[in-house]
Amino acid sequence: MLSLDHAIKGRRSIRRFKPDEIPVDTVRAVLEAGTWAPSAKNGQQWRFTVLTGESKKRFTAMFGSELTKLMKKKQSVGPGFGSLKVMEQAPVNIIVWNINEKGWITEVHSVAAAIQNMLLKAYSLGLGSLWIGDVFYLPEKIFQDFFEKDWQLSAGLALGIPDESPDPRPRMSVDQVTEFFP
Ligand SMILES: Cc1cc2nc3c(=O)[nH]c(=O)nc-3n(C[C@H](O)[C@H](O)[C@H](O)COP(=O)(O)O)c2cc1C
Repeated sequence: MLSLDHAIKGRRSIRRFKPDEIPVDTVRAVLEAGTWAPSAKNGQQWRFTVLTGESKKRFTAMFGSELTKLMKKKQSVGPGFGSLKVMEQAPVNIIVWNINEKGWITEVHSVAAAIQNMLLKAYSLGLGSLWIGDVFYLPEKIFQDFFEKDWQLSAGLALGIPDESPDPRPRMSVDQVTEFFP
């Protein structure tokens, strides 16, 4: 089994994937790791929508056409099309939601903790992953209507067999980000 340090330091954001499908049990193992995250008042506020095959095609087509509409209206789509391309290539997309029952900021944190567990588990299983915040270039309501949910959108995730092995991105040192008080 991968050591925790190896997983934490070896994981990378992956933006190129092989076309191989991912067995559903592997996807379930990634989701299950998410469910072991800590959560505010143990509220387990995460929810997941897993897209593969046809459902993923329908979703990415919607994402692309909505980004195009925004672009035509001269609204910023940032690197949205780049992230769309990653989602199209990855065999598995996961939409991560926050049920946001209480409206607490800590519910947001619970879901982020679940996502991090999932990225690390994916890496430990030989999968690549990308956490995609570019979904927020679209108004959240478009996602809620498309998936018929009233949950809060948290992120998109792309999962698959990596087709690249990027170098680590630079990190600030502990001393750059910390103050120690005696
Ligand atoms: C909240 C969040 C949102 C992100 N959104 C995107 C995204 O939309 N598209 C993308 O290519 N990468 C996205 N990333 C990945 C970051 O760019 C990446 O984590 C960072 O550059 C560090 O690289 P590493 O993950 O390989 O260590 C996101 C990461 C986080 C945590």
